[in-house]
Formats: sequence, C-alpha cells, structure tokens
Amino acid sequence: MLSITIKEEEADLEAVALVKDEAVVEIITTKKNSSQLNFSKTRMADDVAGEEVAVDIVPTSTIITASVYLNYIATYYANICPNLESLVQGAVRGMMASSPIAAAATLRLFFHDCFITGCDASLLIQNPNNDDEQHSSETMFLRADGYKTIAAAKAAVDADPQCANKVSCADIMALAARDAVSLSGGPTWKVELGRYDALGARASDVDLPLTTEDVPALMKRFSAHGLTVDDLVALSGGHTLGATSCVFVNSRIYPTVDAFLDPSFASQLQGICPSNLDPNTFVFFDQSVTSFDNNYFLMVQQKKGVLFSDSALCFDSSSKGIVDKFAVDQNAFFTQFMSSMVRLGRLGLKTAATGEIRATCTKPN
Ligand code: HEM
Repeated sequence: MLSITIKEEEADLEAVALVKDEAVVEIITTKKNSSQLNFSKTRMADDVAGEEVAVDIVPTSTIITASVYLNYIATYYANICPNLESLVQGAVRGMMASSPIAAAATLRLFFHDCFITGCDASLLIQNPNNDDEQHSSETMFLRADGYKTIAAAKAAVDADPQCANKVSCADIMALAARDAVSLSGGPTWKVELGRYDALGARASDVDLPLTTEDVPALMKRFSAHGLTVDDLVALSGGHTLGATSCVFVNSRIYPTVDAFLDPSFASQLQGICPSNLDPNTFVFFDQSVTSFDNNYFLMVQQKKGVLFSDSALCFDSSSKGIVDKFAVDQNAFFTQFMSSMVRLGRLGLKTAATGEIRATCTKPN
C-alpha cells in the first residue's frame, strides 16, 4: 500500500494525482476534503522503497507538493500468482536448452519493446494488416526465438489456474529478459512488476538507435528516455550475447575498412561476411556468444567492436572510461547492468487507465 500525505492544507482537493517519480506512474483520484490518499497499486523500486519522495498533486490548475511512502513492488503478484517467477524461469530455461540464441533474442526483444512506446509488450501485437511494430523495417531482424520464449512463458503462466490471464505480457517480458541474462551466467536482480499491456501497436512508432550512430547521437535517444551514458554503455553490453547479420557489418569493411576497426579483425570480418552481401550470414559479437560476461568490452577496447555503434563507445570521452572500467571489472559491469535494466524497465509504463492485461499477447483484448 502506498500512501500520499498532502503537506499543505489544500482541503478542497478533488484531484488527479500524478505520481511523478520515475519509478511510478499511477493516476488516481483523491477524495474531496481528504488529506491522505491511499493507493492500492504501486510501481515502486526497491532503491526508493520506504523513502519519502516528492510527487506532484495536480488538482485542476495549480501544482502542490506532497510526499509519498513507497513499498517494494516485487510483491505485486504475491497473492495473485505466487509461482510467477519460477513459471517464467522454467519456460526460459526450456527455450534456452533447445535454442542457443533464445536468451539473446529475448533480451533484445525487451530492449526494443521498452524503447518504442515503453515496456508495454506492444512489440508482441500482430495487427491483421501487419502495420504493427513487429513488422516495421527496424524490428524485422528480431529473431523468432525471442517471441517464442515469451509465448512459452505466457503459456506456462496461464497453465497455472491461479495465474491465468492475470499477469501482463509486459511483466512476463521483463522477467524473461532478466532470466535470459542470469541463466547465461550474468547477474540476477529483482524485477519491478505491475506493468499493464499496451492497447495497440503502430509500425510508425518504431524509431530505434541505428548502428551508424555515434555516442552523441545515441545519447540523444537514451537521454530522451531519461537514461544516462552509464546506461548506454552498460546496456550495450547486452551485445555480450548473440550475433549480428552482415547487413550491419558490410559497410564497415567494404570497399574500405573504417578507421575504428583493428585491421586484422577487419580481415576476419571480411572472411565471414562476403562483399556480395548475404544477410543470412552472422557475426558473433564476442567469442563467448552464449555467456553473459564482460568480453564484449575487451573487444570494443581492442577495436574489435562489431557494430559501428559498439566501436563508437571507445572514441567518445564520455563513454570510453566506462568501457575501460567494465573491461577490467566484470562486477562493475554487472552492477551497472542490473541497475540500467531496472531503469530501462520503467520506460513508458501503462496503468489500468491506459492499458490492460492482455489475454493473448499478440492481440489486444
Ligand atoms: C545502443 C544501440 C544499439 C544498437 C545500434 C543495436 C543494434 C543491434 C543490431 C544491429 C543487432 C543485430 C541484429 C541482427 O542482425 O539480428 C543487435 C543485436 C543484439 N542486441 Fe543490440 N543494439 C543496441 C543496443 C542494445 C541494447 C541496449 C541491448 C540490450 C540491453 C541489446 C541487445 C542485443 C542483443 C542481445 C542482440 C543479439 C540478438 C540475437 O542474436 O538474436 N542491444 N543489436
């Protein structure tokens, strides 16, 4: 239970309160003449749990300040679906046993979903005429194994009668992304829960970072989402898993090799990616392709970043030091990655007023 106490005597307040802490987006209506507002839904982070944070209460025109007490959110499904975490983890584990790229694809899916219209599972929606996010040119390279992993997790959750149709697809995606990382040898963390699913999806909303972008361009996108350069570097470390199509590599090695690639590594890339582009040929981001570790940063440091956007992290003064730190200190990478994933998972949250718990992840109810 989350409670807000209005500090100033704003007695006649019949208001909509918009909790503005980045961990929380919940719209509620206050009772007239009430100085205490009680919430039954919370969107909280453990790093702010129990803390007083400022929120704005928006009556009609003026903004007054209130304080809010936060509870930890990981308990969101405690009474609704107590086995949720193990159900999702079991499904992810099963998919990873049958597909070596399931973990990479699942992590990437979550990143794209959150960056498009928020972590609301809009990326899973399939419109009858294919004008959805999933069918845009920028998301077409997402591999089916990620979608299959989420479908398996949703089926596992719905097979439990206590849980059927009570857990959002967005929360399942957040849990599955975490499990994909931890089951690959990476860190594990508590996932904030209580997201709602989007009511629809449009291909025109898709606008994702490009591999041709340098740090200032990437940061423009990340900071628009309230993310920092630490988040950019740590989350780019997601490229410790998986591979890229030669589509994103060939322009770096033909007709000439770009200045940010080690020449001998560039020859290796030329050996894998023919100049006559084959989009079905892939390059691993690092040698330990199914292991979540800090090898990616060693590669980037040695001018062996596969994408231009990876290499770029090492030639910008704002990010280079962070790459250097993560290359020598895997724990530092893991610690920042966990916190960055939590922050990524807070983007564009939908509420009961703006979303729903989808019965089928691929279509609105
Ligand atoms: C910073 C900007 C980023 C750019 C430009 C970028 C671009 C790409 C590209 C082009 C691929 C290869 C796609 C393909 O050929 O299938 C890829 C793969 C991947 N990306 Fe990123 N990415 C970025 C950030 C991220 C972030 C923040 C994450 C997760 C936290 C992430 C996770 C992944 C993973 C796991 C793969 C491998 C997918 C697979 O093998 O199926 N990427 N990325």
